This record gives sequence, C-alpha cells and structure tokens, in this order.
Amino acid sequence: MHAVILSGGSGTRLWPLSREAYPKQFLPLVSEETMLAETIKRARNIASCSRTVAITNEEHRFVVAAHLQQQCGENERDIILEPIGRNTAPAIALAALHARAEDKDAVLLVMPSDHALADIDAFARAVQIGERAANEGHLVTFGVVPTHPHTGYGYIRANEGAVSEFSPVGEFVEKPDEATAKAYLDAGNYFWNSGMFMFRADRYLAELKQHRPDILDACEKAWNSQAKDLDFIRVDKDAFAACPEDSIDYAVMEKTSDAVVVPLDAGWSDVGSWSALWEIHERDSDGNVCKGDVIVEDVHDSYIHSEGRLIAAIGITDHVIVETDDVVLVADKNRVQDVKKLVAKVKAQN
Ligand code: GDD
Ligand code: MG
Repeated sequence: MHAVILSGGSGTRLWPLSREAYPKQFLPLVSEETMLAETIKRARNIASCSRTVAITNEEHRFVVAAHLQQQCGENERDIILEPIGRNTAPAIALAALHARAEDKDAVLLVMPSDHALADIDAFARAVQIGERAANEGHLVTFGVVPTHPHTGYGYIRANEGAVSEFSPVGEFVEKPDEATAKAYLDAGNYFWNSGMFMFRADRYLAELKQHRPDILDACEKAWNSQAKDLDFIRVDKDAFAACPEDSIDYAVMEKTSDAVVVPLDAGWSDVGSWSALWEIHERDSDGNVCKGDVIVEDVHDSYIHSEGRLIAAIGITDHVIVETDDVVLVADKNRVQDVKKLVAKVKAQN
C-alpha cells in the first residue's frame, strides 16, 4: 500500500496559532508532536517509507522534508511540490500518477495531515477492510457517525440492506447546507466523510478521466514534464497552473457509482476549531483544558492556551483564550466558527 499525505491547506480556523505561513499540521496541537508527525507515524504502520509520499507547496517543502526525515532517516523520500494550490482532486491525481509509475497495481491511502485519531488499532482495522475493497476496484471512504449537523463535512448515505464490512454508497453529498445536514442527522443513516480515501491509483485516474477529463489532462501534462531535485518532485508550473481547481469530493466522490464506505470508530477529529480541540483533550475537574502558563479561579468548560505570557482568568464559562506573541484571542466557545470572520478582518486591515 502507498500512503499519500496531503499537506497543502492553510487552516485559519485555529488562528492565531495556525497561520498561512505555519498551518496547523505543523503545530503540536493534539500531542507533544506536530499533527504531521502523528500522521506520518500512522502512515508508517501501514506503508514503508519508500511508499509514503507527501504533497505540499514550495513554501513548506523543508518543514515537510524534515518531518519525513525524522521518521524515515535517509531512506528514499518523495515529496511532490505543487507550484500553486489546485485543491485535492489534482493533488491526489499527481500522487496517483507517481504511485502508478512505480507499481501498476498500487493502492493509495490518502490522508490529510491535520487530523487526529485516538485509536490507532481501530484505524488500522478499518484500513485493512478498506484495502480489500480498494483491491476490488472500489473507491473507499471512511465514515464517522455524525453527532451534529456540521456543514463543513461531506455526508455519506450507506445503501440500505448492506451487511458486509463495507457498504456501497447510496449518496455522497459534499458540504450540504444547514437544513440538509439536519435532515441527514435526523435520518440516522448518514456518515460524515472523514476525508481519508483508499483506491487503486488506476481506478482514481479512470474516474477522473470519466468525470473531470480536464483535470486529468492538466495533471498528466504537469506530471510528464517534471524535475526531480533531491527529495522534491516539481511538476510543470504552467501545465499545473492551467488545471481547474476542485476537491476530490466534488470532482469524483459525488459522481462515482463505485464508492463504498467503511465505518470508522477510532476517535477521529479533523480538529477544525478551538472547540473541537477542547473536545478531544482530557479536561480537568472543572471541564477546562489549560495549556502553558495559566491560572484560573471559578472557570469552567474553557480552552485556555498561553504560548508565553501568564493568562489569569476569573469567573468565566465556555470561553476560548489563546495567547501568542502578537495576538490574544478571546471568544465564546460556541462562536469559534466565526474565527474565520476575524481573520478576514485582520487581513483587510493589514
Ligand atoms: N497538497 C495539497 N494541495 N493538499 C491540500 C490542498 C491542495 O491544494 N487543498 C487541501 N489540501 C489538504 C488539506 O491540508 C487537508 O489536509 C486536506 O487536504 C483536506 O482539505 P480541506 O480543505 O481541509 O478539506 P475540507 O475539510 O474542507 O473537507 C474535506 O474533509 C472533511 C473532513 O475533515 C472533505 O473531504 C469533506 O468531505 C470531509 O468531511
Ligand atoms: Mg479540513
């Protein structure tokens, strides 16, 4: 199996810690290690170093290379560099072309670099099932039981009556509106798409050819005139720049008739907000998560994170406070989705 680690996003919802120049996958947000290091570790359980490829942008190439080197030493490491972000459908196409060139039967496990998984064994079991399904030619999604009508996820309806370890997907809907997400939650037979995928490289490329030949065409052109420099594979800039931008979810998963879902119960979180981070951490007896230099009195159910200065708080509940060198964020824990609005305001000011 080939592990594909996607590291191209710039998470702004965990601002002010996560910045464009240093997005959340490079931060030790969930454990002592960065989320990318945790992802590479997870990949190491599943694929050898020589079959692990990361895809990122020019700006982050050295930090990604250092992460891979830490766990794979001087072994062969491949890092595909995108000259410009074109979202996940083209990024995964490049990874598929890379793997297929090495091994025509390659099966890919596509993993975002900024997710948390508490139960590694349960994840490994789901991946084993996924590999069987992928070898049968299916496009595998990993489905998480939803707990609320989140509009930032893909929703998967498993076909009724399926009883095997994986079920055909009846419907895949990427990022539904609030009312639709609520209806799916009430219906009870929908999963959240975890954003990890498995398929044979040739099957993904065939689906792309059918549904988005324009993307495949641009990626093939970019791939065919690549340059290798140390660990880095640089694809042709102009050809890749001409590639339409789209996510795998819209470009392929909503359209294919060959998707299956493997249920995943492994403590998955995409750590998409400060409240998600509060949820996955162990809380103290007052329900607080405190990081760094923090003193509290009568504070409950809050996430308080100091990078340097002492944070002292009294008599608050359901708050997020995050202190960095240049920013202090204070927010209602139920409003943390709006951090992106603040980031937009800050950008407009600068
Ligand atoms: N290399 C590369 N290039 N990586 C990228 C690019 C790109 O252009 N764009 C995004 N990524 C990486 C991100 O860093 C992240 O790790 C992963 O691909 C997914 O992209 P997101 O932008 O975070 O997607 P999303 O969160 O909106 O939605 C996806 O994940 C949800 C679960 O977290 C979808 O797959 C949803 O269906 C899913 O529910
Ligand atoms: Mg995401």
